Amino acid sequence: MAEVIVALDVQSTAEAVEKVRLIGDAVGFYKIGLELFTAEGPDVVKAVKDLGKKVFLDLKFHDIPRTVERAVRSGGKLGVDLMTIHSVGGRAMIRAAADAAAEFGANAPKILAVTVLTSLDQGDLADVGIVGRTPAEQVEAMAKFAVGNGANGLVCSPKEVGALSRALKAGTLFVTPGVRPAGAALGDQKRVATPAEAVRDGATHLVVGRPILAAADPAAAARAINAEIEGL
Ligand code: C5P
Repeated sequence: MAEVIVALDVQSTAEAVEKVRLIGDAVGFYKIGLELFTAEGPDVVKAVKDLGKKVFLDLKFHDIPRTVERAVRSGGKLGVDLMTIHSVGGRAMIRAAADAAAEFGANAPKILAVTVLTSLDQGDLADVGIVGRTPAEQVEAMAKFAVGNGANGLVCSPKEVGALSRALKAGTLFVTPGVRPAGAALGDQKRVATPAEAVRDGATHLVVGRPILAAADPAAAARAINAEIEGL
């Protein structure tokens, strides 16, 4: 069954721990991103792991292969379960990340690749020299490139996940933000899907922030999403 990952978009370890405790057994997986990690560092990862939860450390590494290899190793030592890299970092960088993760054997963090940030349009791609491909074509090309070089999966929007899950080998992870239960506030998300739509299209993990964190009863909101995707 697809798994819900709650985006811990809060500013402190104390707030993160409070949210994880409040949500309780309803969710076993949490995303720690740039804002929280830059504020609190590895301590927040340790705090969430100490509560018995899995951690998706979303720092989107993009650097020379040696640096990424060592950063992935640091994540593995912290016990993180998922980490992100940018696929445009190149073949050697992707392989370095995958090889460093593999050193942790059965506890290896899974490496997810970002293809094209959803904030970029055709004009933004042209600015950085990508011409002759639409954003969708660039997404698919980079997805195949990343998985072909050892990435375990992809971060992708609900609008991309259908095409990507058809184009890539079985067992690839598809981690999808931009998920909104029917009737939930969109916030700043524009192209959303319901949890059931995203999972039917092939998502293996759903990243959900505000629909759970800002709910009057976060545990109940998470349980409702679990119920929606159960058995799909
Ligand atoms: O609150 P919400 O459900 O919109 O949170 C979604 C999470 O997924 C946030 O942490 C956001 O940064 C992240 N994300 C996203 N869209 C992307 C990539 C990441 O919403 N394309």
